[in-house]
Amino acid sequence: MPKVTFISQNGETVITAESGALLSDLLLSGGSPLEMPCGGKGRCGKCRVRAEGALSKATADEAAALRPDELSAGIRLACCTRLLGDAAVWTANRLEEGQIQAEGAVGFFTKKPYFRHYGAAVDIGTTTLAARLYGQDGPVSSAVSLNPQRIFGADVISRIHAAMNGKTEELARCVREEISRLLVKLADDAGISVEEIDAAVITGNTAMLHLFAKADPSPLAAAPFQAKELFGKTGEGKDFDLPCHPQAKIYLPRCMSAFVGADITTALLASGICDRDETALLVDIGTNGEMALWHQGNLLCCSTAAGPAFEGAGLSCGMPGVTGAIDRIAPEDGKLAVHVIGDVPAAGICGSGVVDAVAAIRQLGWMDETGRLSSEEDISLAGSVRIIQKDIRMVQLAKSAVCAGVKTLLDTAGIDAASLHTFAVAGGFGSYLNLSNAARIGLYPPELEKKAAVLGNAALSGAAMLLENTDFISRSEQAAHGSDTVDLSVNPVFMEQYIECMEF
Ligand code: FES
Repeated sequence: MPKVTFISQNGETVITAESGALLSDLLLSGGSPLEMPCGGKGRCGKCRVRAEGALSKATADEAAALRPDELSAGIRLACCTRLLGDAAVWTANRLEEGQIQAEGAVGFFTKKPYFRHYGAAVDIGTTTLAARLYGQDGPVSSAVSLNPQRIFGADVISRIHAAMNGKTEELARCVREEISRLLVKLADDAGISVEEIDAAVITGNTAMLHLFAKADPSPLAAAPFQAKELFGKTGEGKDFDLPCHPQAKIYLPRCMSAFVGADITTALLASGICDRDETALLVDIGTNGEMALWHQGNLLCCSTAAGPAFEGAGLSCGMPGVTGAIDRIAPEDGKLAVHVIGDVPAAGICGSGVVDAVAAIRQLGWMDETGRLSSEEDISLAGSVRIIQKDIRMVQLAKSAVCAGVKTLLDTAGIDAASLHTFAVAGGFGSYLNLSNAARIGLYPPELEKKAAVLGNAALSGAAMLLENTDFISRSEQAAHGSDTVDLSVNPVFMEQYIECMEF
């Protein structure tokens, strides 16, 4: 059988593989953080790798996506390239240090645990997974990884379509396997057997919970967008093929609606904003900008399609916030000063980096208020990592969708941004975001910057609260049940604001 040598900064690994195997399959099974926003259809050009040896000829898709000089330098699309004999592939590092957020602060509360010995809290994000293990004395270990479902596409809609095209089993299997791996790691790090985990709370957006539980997600993808399943349900470890105790209680928190998931239910719990009288807004920006407004005892939610730009996907040089990603940029002496996670050569740019990049490019006068770059040339950031006009347009659509969502929620409640007491920013992207630059590019109304409280992974922290005090379960279910969701797809205020918020 052919031998494949994977070469990364961590060293070399040699495996044997079937002739005809796709490089993308080999890389993903080896744990490489390969990006495949188009789901391996050869359209997005994001699964680029450098490869040499006995490989299939470049396909038409590769010829369209790659420049001749890239092809002659051995750059290939991993989803189009098959192994024909021995070969070498240069890969990114496995996930090490990075921006996947497993931390998040919560206030003091009394303990009434859902578990007997050990319990796990898990957040299934569209891009990342995060987990924490708890014992009777509190948290004992944590672990993060990338969501392996990204091979079916970067956003929720492509995954729902994959499920509708017969991939339900595969989608569930890959995320369950990855959660299982995280549970084993949590247990190993804590020095216990994974079977001692006797309870887990697994949160996520509505689509992610459907795909994990093998529930039919098709109602989430078509009007009238009514979810038949909103969870708030308990199963057992064996029902979800998890390696914890077979009878472990597995609780999936209740979602608000088809648009607003259990991740917002648990993030709200962790934020504590519904325990106070003041008006507050919570946002979690990922491929969707999910948000919830607490005003005069009512909870008003919405979800806006931000697209994958803020998760580092879909951009010409985008990547998740892991080693090698440019995560911070500032204008310095008329140039761009960049910071790369892990202090290694830049391999791409992640969500927080692209917000900084756009703010700096505007500050330096290299782009006008409509988002048009003043030069035909791409903007080089570091090495071959660059920003092109199409990237600016993606960010423009994403920031406009989020800001218009915020304004629509405020308008529906009959208040303005100045009346907000707290602006709670949840999620991994929000944790690393430069709040001034986010306001500068118009991701949210500028009045909110000074009211911002960054919560970290509040969805995971809220799941942990459910794990540590069972009283929160009914409280969170009531909050989700009593919330109202604003459907932005038919909202005239949103349409108007979406256009108005386009300018930089
Ligand atoms: S081109 Fe390969 S994943 Fe999109």
